[in-house]
Amino acid sequence: MNQPETLASLQASVHAPSHVIHVQLLAWVRDIASLTQPDSIYWCDGSQAEYDRLCGELVKAGTFKKLSDAKRPNSYLAWSDPTDVARVEDRTYICCEKKEDAGPTNNWMAPDEMRATLQPLFTGSMRGRTMYVVPFSMGPLGSPIAHIGVELSDSPYVAVNMKIMTRMGKGALDVLGSNGEFVPCVHTVGAPLLNNAKDVAWPCNKTKYIVHYPESREIWSYGSGYGGNALLGKKCFALRIASTMGKRDGWLAEHMLILGVTNPEGKKYHVAAAFPSACGKTNFAMLIPPKGFEGWSVTTIGDDIAWIKPGADGRLYAINPEAGYFGVAPGTNDQSNFNCMASLKRDVIFTNVALTDNDDVWWEGMTKTPPAHLIDWQGNDWTPEIAGRTGAKAAHPNARFTVAATNNPALDSAWDDPKGVAIDAFIFGGRRSTTVPLVTEARNWEEGVYMAATMGSETTAAAAGQQGIVRRDPFAMLPFMGYNMSDYFAHWLGLGKKLADSGAKLPKIFTVNWFRKDANGKFVWPGFGDNMRVMAWMLERVDANSNNAKEGVEHVFGVSPRYGDLNWNGLDFSEAQFNSVISIERDAWVAEMKLHGELFEQLTHRLPAELPAIKAKLESKLQA
Ligand code: OXD
Ligand code: MN
Repeated sequence: MNQPETLASLQASVHAPSHVIHVQLLAWVRDIASLTQPDSIYWCDGSQAEYDRLCGELVKAGTFKKLSDAKRPNSYLAWSDPTDVARVEDRTYICCEKKEDAGPTNNWMAPDEMRATLQPLFTGSMRGRTMYVVPFSMGPLGSPIAHIGVELSDSPYVAVNMKIMTRMGKGALDVLGSNGEFVPCVHTVGAPLLNNAKDVAWPCNKTKYIVHYPESREIWSYGSGYGGNALLGKKCFALRIASTMGKRDGWLAEHMLILGVTNPEGKKYHVAAAFPSACGKTNFAMLIPPKGFEGWSVTTIGDDIAWIKPGADGRLYAINPEAGYFGVAPGTNDQSNFNCMASLKRDVIFTNVALTDNDDVWWEGMTKTPPAHLIDWQGNDWTPEIAGRTGAKAAHPNARFTVAATNNPALDSAWDDPKGVAIDAFIFGGRRSTTVPLVTEARNWEEGVYMAATMGSETTAAAAGQQGIVRRDPFAMLPFMGYNMSDYFAHWLGLGKKLADSGAKLPKIFTVNWFRKDANGKFVWPGFGDNMRVMAWMLERVDANSNNAKEGVEHVFGVSPRYGDLNWNGLDFSEAQFNSVISIERDAWVAEMKLHGELFEQLTHRLPAELPAIKAKLESKLQA
C-alpha cells in the first residue's frame, strides 16, 4: 500500500535540505527528476563557498580556465561550442492556448503539441549529470515588485552565472516559504552522458527549444547552454513570462536600463531606456558625464531589464530584477565604458573572449593595439597578422562578461531598494545609420507609444542570424514579447490613460538615435559619454517649467533641440554636424512611414485604433 507523502519523505526523495518546506516545489523537483533522470540532485544555497567550489569543478571539467589571480582575481573564462553562441530566436516559442494571443511576431505551437514534442527530448536528458536546483528572486528579496523563480538545470555553468545574475539560493527559498508562488524553469543542455562517457567542455545539442507556456507560467529550455537561452531568469522569465504577468496585473516588464541622474543643483531624476540588444545599453547605464558637465553624476540601477509598477501616488516605480550584468565584451574599453572596465577587474565569468599569453582576457576594441599573440575563442592561435589575412576574430562578436552589479563603481544607492525608483522619462533608441534624428520628444504619451511601437533597428550579433538588417523592433521587445504585440501596445496606451485619468504626471517619452553615419559610413555623433549632452536636454524638458527648460523646435514627429539648446562645452561638434544627425528628410520619412504601415498590416488584428490614427496625422503633417 502506498504511504501518504510526508514533507520528510518528499525532501528525502529529492535530497532537499530540511529548510525546504514548500511541498509543491519538492513534488515538482521530484517529477522533473523522474523525467530527466539525473545521477544526482544538488540544491544551490547561493553561498560564496558554493560558487567557488562549483567554479573549481568547472575548471577540472575543462569548461572554465582560471585567469591569472595577479591580473584578474577570482575570474574565469569559458569557450562555448561554436554552434552555441547567441540567443536562438527562431527556436524560441510562446505556447499559449490560442495562436492569436502569441501574435504574429512570435513562434507559436499549441501547448499540447509542444509538450508532446518536448517529452521525448527531456526524457533521460540529464542522465549522467547532476541536476542543480537554483532558486532565485528577480528583484530585491521580498520586494512587492519582485517575483521568485526556480531553475532546474544540468549545467553548473548556469548555476554559477545565476548566482551572479540573480539573488540566488537560500534567501529566495526563505521568501517562498511553504506556499509562495514561483515560476518553474527547466533547463537541460540535452547531452546525457551515457555509460560513463567522457564529457565535453561545453555540452549542448544541435536541436534547441526555448519554450514558454504563459498560461501556466512555465519555461522549458532544451539544447543550449548560452546566455538568454539558458539563464532562464533573464529574457525567458524577466521579459517573456513577466510581460504576460504585467499585462494581467497592470504593470510593465521592459527591455530597459534604469539610471539615476543628479544635476549640479542636487536634483535627482530617474530614466528608463529601451535599446535593442548590443546597442549600448550597458554603456549608457554606466555613462560618465563628459567635460562641460561638472557637477552632474550618473548612477546605474540596471543595464538590461526594468520591472515597472504604478505606485499609490500614480507614479511609475521601477526595479532592476537582475543582480548582475551579462554584457557584450567586444567594443568595451576605458573610453567607451570606464565604469564597466572597472567592474571587470575581478570576480568575472567571461564567455567567448580571447585568452592572452599571461592568462588574462582580450577582445576586439579593448585596446587600440592588440596583443602580439592570443588564443582565440575557438582555441586557435591568433595574431594580428592571422586576423589581417583570414578575418578571424579573437573574441566572438557576442562574447560576454557576467559580473555582479556590486562591482560597478557607479552603482546607484537605490539599486537594491525594494520600493524601486520613480521614473521621470522613458527613452527609446534604435541603431539606424540614416533617417532617425538624434533625439525627439513625443508631444504626448500616445505619440510616444507610437514612436516606440514603430521603432526600427539594424540587427546585431546578440541573436543568431544575419547582422545589419533593419527590422522593426517595437519597444526593443521584438525577441522578448510574451504575448500579442498589438495587445502590448494597447497595454501601454491603457496604462497611460489610467494614470492620466487619476491625475498623475506621466513620464515624458523620447526617442534617440546615436548611430547616424556620414557619406563615408562613419558615425557622426560621438556617443558614449557625450550622450549626456542629449540626456541633459531631455531632463530640462522633463522640468518643462524650470528656468533651465530649453524650448527646442517642434516638427512633424515632436520636439527636437536646436544647436544652441545643447551644452557643447568640451566638445568640438559643428552646427553642420549637428544638423546632419538631427535632420528629418522628407523622402526618407515617406519611405519609413511605409514600413510603419507594413508593421501595422502585420499586426492588424487587435491593433489599437489610436496607432493608425496617429500615423495618418503624422503623414498629413509630412505632406504639408
Ligand atoms: C541580452 C540581449 O543578452 O539583449 O541582454 O541579448
Ligand atoms: Mn538585453
